[in-house]
Amino acid sequence: MESTLSTKHLLGIKYITESDIRLIFDTATQFKEVINRPIKKVPSLRDVTIANLFFENSTRTRISFELAEKRLSADTVNFSAAASSVKKGETLLDTVNNILSMKVDMVVMRHPAPGAPMFLSNHIDANIINAGDGTHEHPTQGLLDAYSMVEKVGDLQGKHILIVGDIKHSRVALSNIFCLQKLGAKVMVCGPPTLIPKHISNLGVLVSHDLKKALEWCDVANILRIQLERQDIKFIPSLREYSKFYGVNKTLLNQLNKEVVIMHPGPMNRGVEISSDVADSDQSIILQQVENGVAIRMAVLYLLAGKR
Ligand code: CP
Repeated sequence: MESTLSTKHLLGIKYITESDIRLIFDTATQFKEVINRPIKKVPSLRDVTIANLFFENSTRTRISFELAEKRLSADTVNFSAAASSVKKGETLLDTVNNILSMKVDMVVMRHPAPGAPMFLSNHIDANIINAGDGTHEHPTQGLLDAYSMVEKVGDLQGKHILIVGDIKHSRVALSNIFCLQKLGAKVMVCGPPTLIPKHISNLGVLVSHDLKKALEWCDVANILRIQLERQDIKFIPSLREYSKFYGVNKTLLNQLNKEVVIMHPGPMNRGVEISSDVADSDQSIILQQVENGVAIRMAVLYLLAGKR
């Protein structure tokens, strides 16, 4: 296996190799051991300054990156669009160039426009890490989801992974699909026809509109929320109806002949796509996903810093 990444930026799982993914996983496993020690900090990024630029809301990703940076001893600056000069009409490039003139080495960016991190990577010298760009990709989420699956069910070669919900508006779905396929898993998406992109089978995924059959097929189910904030028209009649046909609840899971591992990237809408008795059950590894997020982000930051 290679000891460095094939890329200077993490713009999407589409642009990295299987070897990159396995290197990130091996490095994350070492950092997971570090963050479970009494002294959780290492000096690896002591001379590195990282800007966290969040042009969209976030809880998990933002806190997770900030923690990962602190655990690696990096210097960090945090930027939130809501409290910045973006509100006065400044362009993305001007905003970022101003921040970079303060000698920033790496940029972690969440932005509502698909392709915004790639645009930046073509114009500035810092390492760019995509923390979610519109409906395009959320690569560190794809990595931490796949890593959590490997931890739970072992190597993903030939494993059956189901992604349930609003596939159409989800950047997590696309990053999951690319990551899981690169690791040899078979992927199925399930949801109402209006929330599944028409040509998604061209990516080599199976498509189902029958949740019970899809759950019978899979080893692991990653359940996504309905992204109402990205829907300018109604894609489903009501959340109640969505929940009736596509909500994962204990009654449904009890009807299966197997125990499926349950995941959710968050934020969860309890009672809509997942019931509380499933989210909080022993079948669920939702909080392990969050824990693994810090180790995965430490690995990504550490390995990309080595490409500077
Ligand atoms: N999973 C995820 O991206 O969550 P946040 O939007 O809270 O960062």
